[in-house]
Amino acid sequence: MREKVLKIWPEINWIKDDELREKTLNAWVYAIEKSVLDADDLEKIPFSLLIKNCTISFMNHKRTCVQLSVDMANKMKENFGDEITIDMDILISGAILIDIGKLLEYEIRDGKLGTSDAGKILRHPFSGVGIADRFDLPAEVLHIIATHSAEGDLGKRTTESIIVHHADFVSFEPFK
Ligand SMILES: [Fe+2]
Repeated sequence: MREKVLKIWPEINWIKDDELREKTLNAWVYAIEKSVLDADDLEKIPFSLLIKNCTISFMNHKRTCVQLSVDMANKMKENFGDEITIDMDILISGAILIDIGKLLEYEIRDGKLGTSDAGKILRHPFSGVGIADRFDLPAEVLHIIATHSAEGDLGKRTTESIIVHHADFVSFEPFK
């Protein structure tokens, strides 16, 4: 399963810290093992079940979000220098994990892929934090998962979370 996850998520190897990289990978292995979907399915299913005729896959959308987060952070560091601090490992781990809770939201009912009743009342920012916490991911990463979506609008996001939140939104808003 580790190989399968690394195949869909080569970006996991961008995390420099050995422990953080391992925890991020293990959280994904756990979520896929618990999910009705397999790693390969994520390359095929549309990233949103709510958008009609969506041809962008879940993994394309998620990898784009991680890649954009890193590009954005690098440009900000290049232009703002010492005025900004961005922890790249935290940023990458968080961006990789933001939708991990969705893996448990999916259900197949009458042969059709949909969102489970539990998934509707406990959205993936919350279930995602639950999964990541099992693997002892740091609070800074849990924060990115918790605040990446509209749920995070009520509080103050860290710099890493602001970047991931915007990278996520630009990767799906144009297709809505
Ligand atoms: Fe999300």
